[in-house]
Amino acid sequence: MPAELICFEERCRARFPITEAIYNCPHCNGLLEVSYPPPATPPAALKRIWRERRASNAPLEQSGVWRYREIIPFLDSFDAVVTLREGNTPLLAAPRAAQYGGLDALVFKHQGFNPTGSFKDNGMTCGVAQALRLGVERVACVSTGNTSASMAAYASAAGLQPIVFIPHGNISYGKLAQALEYGARTLQVEANFDQILALVRTLAERLGIYLLNSINPFRIEGQKSIVVEMLDQRDWNPPDWIVLPGGNLGNTAAFGKALRELHAWGFIAKMPRLAVIQAEGAAPFYELMRTPPHSFRPVTDPRTLATAIKIGDPVSWPKASREVTCSCGMVEKVSEQEIADAKAIVGQCGIGCEPASAATLAGIRKLTAAGSIAPSADVVAVLTGNLLKDPDYIYRYHTGKLEAPDGTAIQPTFGKLPIIVPNDTYKITEALRP
Ligand code: F0G
Repeated sequence: MPAELICFEERCRARFPITEAIYNCPHCNGLLEVSYPPPATPPAALKRIWRERRASNAPLEQSGVWRYREIIPFLDSFDAVVTLREGNTPLLAAPRAAQYGGLDALVFKHQGFNPTGSFKDNGMTCGVAQALRLGVERVACVSTGNTSASMAAYASAAGLQPIVFIPHGNISYGKLAQALEYGARTLQVEANFDQILALVRTLAERLGIYLLNSINPFRIEGQKSIVVEMLDQRDWNPPDWIVLPGGNLGNTAAFGKALRELHAWGFIAKMPRLAVIQAEGAAPFYELMRTPPHSFRPVTDPRTLATAIKIGDPVSWPKASREVTCSCGMVEKVSEQEIADAKAIVGQCGIGCEPASAATLAGIRKLTAAGSIAPSADVVAVLTGNLLKDPDYIYRYHTGKLEAPDGTAIQPTFGKLPIIVPNDTYKITEALRP
């Protein structure tokens, strides 16, 4: 049985050929998933093959996504794949962050080490490969910044035209700069992420543009490799918890699918639990999972300085809800002050990340304090974006000028003020006195 698209909705489960350019089920409008039979090669042999590929100089093997192609077998041929050597992101032990988070030990899987500085590259190489296979010429996304940076890079590298829609004034300059430099036609729309996504979904169909938001099931396939690579790096010992920030919830859907498949296919004996962390002002998924009977209510005016996760109507909530439930996971929300302080701590580890990523550490601190995660738990937190994505936020925090969306001042609890000194040996020596 080849790869197929299958409707995610239990009551529908309609199947479609893998070559249809659709994002929702034409029958019931449900989300779509890529479905495959288990790999023909046994897990032990595949684990060995994947490890050996790391030593190869072939582009496909050097990719931290395509190296694991046996678990994302949706292409007939890999000849047209464009890789910027995505993935290959490190697991970094962070004792200072562990202490802050109330844990004995903590490891970060840092997706900010990707070619365009975020986890989106893992998914984008797959989304663009599918776009090439479908023969489209233009691809588009709506983005809080990282998707647009990633799509612009991969589409341009593949000779496609990238079209980027971003909420005007609501993405960081680092990300906007990337979209421009990688050659995207960039439209800054005067609306929020959710409003623009609704608009672009109808526009894409009318203009024949292929959409590369995380509603695209091939993006999700690529993002599965984040979990696969992490398990490979841990010699296939699953952690107790995987903690990640939640925005549009594509990553939550991808991680959950990866874990279910790996478990069902015999790669891992135990399922880690997923902990999804949202910003307080943009936390519809937290509310959904907290309050039975679990009816979803979007947040119409999402607000957070962590602009990457400033999303009130996340597309993938039905998938994310299943994955969190399936993994016996949890959802937590954190304040602007908690995100800012956690981010400074990640920085003090010599690691650094962008604001949305720091929600993970802030969430861990809350979950350990509440007794939901044990101090001795084996935890991997995923840092989704690079520190340099949002330098303005950093400068404001350290100089005490950062304000929450409601105007409340954010305290620079762990701030390091830059000191202005005259060109004077004595004064500089004074300033450096311990
Ligand atoms: N962290 C970062 C750095 C992100 O850029 C995003 C999403 C998330 C977390 C949330 O991930 O949507 O899979 O739950 N950024 C998107 C974008 C929406 O347009 O770049 P999610």
